[in-house]
Amino acid sequence: MSTLAVYPGSFDPLTNGHVDIISRGARLFDRIIVSILVNAEKAPLFSMEERVEIAREVFKDQRNVEVDTFHGLLVDYVERRGAHVIVRGLRAVSDFEFEFQMALMNQRLNPRIETVFMMPAEQYTYISSRLIKEVFSLGGRVHGLVPELVELRLREKQLAPRGA
Ligand SMILES: Nc1ncnc2c1ncn2[C@@H]1O[C@H](COP(=O)(O)OP(=O)(O)OP(=O)(O)O)[C@@H](O)[C@H]1O
Ligand SMILES: [Mg+2]
Repeated sequence: MSTLAVYPGSFDPLTNGHVDIISRGARLFDRIIVSILVNAEKAPLFSMEERVEIAREVFKDQRNVEVDTFHGLLVDYVERRGAHVIVRGLRAVSDFEFEFQMALMNQRLNPRIETVFMMPAEQYTYISSRLIKEVFSLGGRVHGLVPELVELRLREKQLAPRGA
């Protein structure tokens, strides 16, 4: 039996913390789907298309990593994709409460699906997309914290702000 896992998130933008978790997942499972959430509530910095393009480019040489988008209830999407595993990353105790709640809710909604938590390498434990955007917008260096393509895209955004 081959195991298919789904790694859901906003990935706005993809960070080296995400990349680390995806690489671990790709070693652990036969295939991992990076599933980018279409979230109408948040105003994302990167459009859905941009986030998909970035993730596909970064993982183009990893044959068992797929990039997809989803909206609505995660467990329904996971079931539809024929997967049985949800991968989530844990950075610190601060992630735990929310992740614990979500995992138990998803377990209740669909007991056939398991949530698997993974820890990133130590040097990525403090990285979040939100912090990357904040630091970058204030002129800070994000080199080494995000894939080079993300750094490039961030710079392009800075030069051509939305609407331009
Ligand atoms: N540096 C990291 N190390 C390990 N897991 C991470 C890291 N960053 C995010 N994750 C995990 O990846 C999943 C998707 O997260 P998400 O897309 O919300 O990223 P985020 O960095 O938390 O973004 P935001 O700051 O917008 O909330 C979650 O399970 C989250 O805990
Ligand atoms: Mg988050």
